[in-house]
Amino acid sequence: MSLKRIIIHPDPRLKKACEQVDGISPALRKLATDMLETMYDAPGIGLAAPQVGVLERFFVMDVAGKESAPEPRVLINPRISWVSEDVNVHEEGCLSIPGVYEDVTRPAMVRVQFKDIDGNNHEEEFEDIAATCVQHEMDHLDGKLFVDYLSGIKRRMITAKMKKLKKEWAREE
Ligand code: NI
Repeated sequence: MSLKRIIIHPDPRLKKACEQVDGISPALRKLATDMLETMYDAPGIGLAAPQVGVLERFFVMDVAGKESAPEPRVLINPRISWVSEDVNVHEEGCLSIPGVYEDVTRPAMVRVQFKDIDGNNHEEEFEDIAATCVQHEMDHLDGKLFVDYLSGIKRRMITAKMKKLKKEWAREE
């Protein structure tokens, strides 16, 4: 296993719509394992392929929480088949926008069709933090970030902050 470098906003690779995954290759399995490792190391509860520079439609997540046994998941070619009318507000963060947390309103429940890492098809309902996480990660696959739900002025402030952070990190290297 090896840790991947997480791309920090703003970056054109985080703004692109990703391609469907064709087949589940050994390379994809290795990448998914590396992404889970990278996510746990960060630490975070979700990481989408474009965040490590791979423009393909899959992401990893684990919303089990620190008190529970890990529940690593890989969702490939996810498609939302239903969303609830009820909404939830959750404070969201993103490994590509470190240190920024803002409330985002999304459907409280979603039903998603996807393939797992063994190629099996699933249709599953997600609620609460899992629903937020799945929708946040699926947005990444369409080149959308959680800051896109915020006001223009807030988004511009956050983007400026991230540019500054990236400059600081570049100097340290
Ligand atoms: Ni994110």
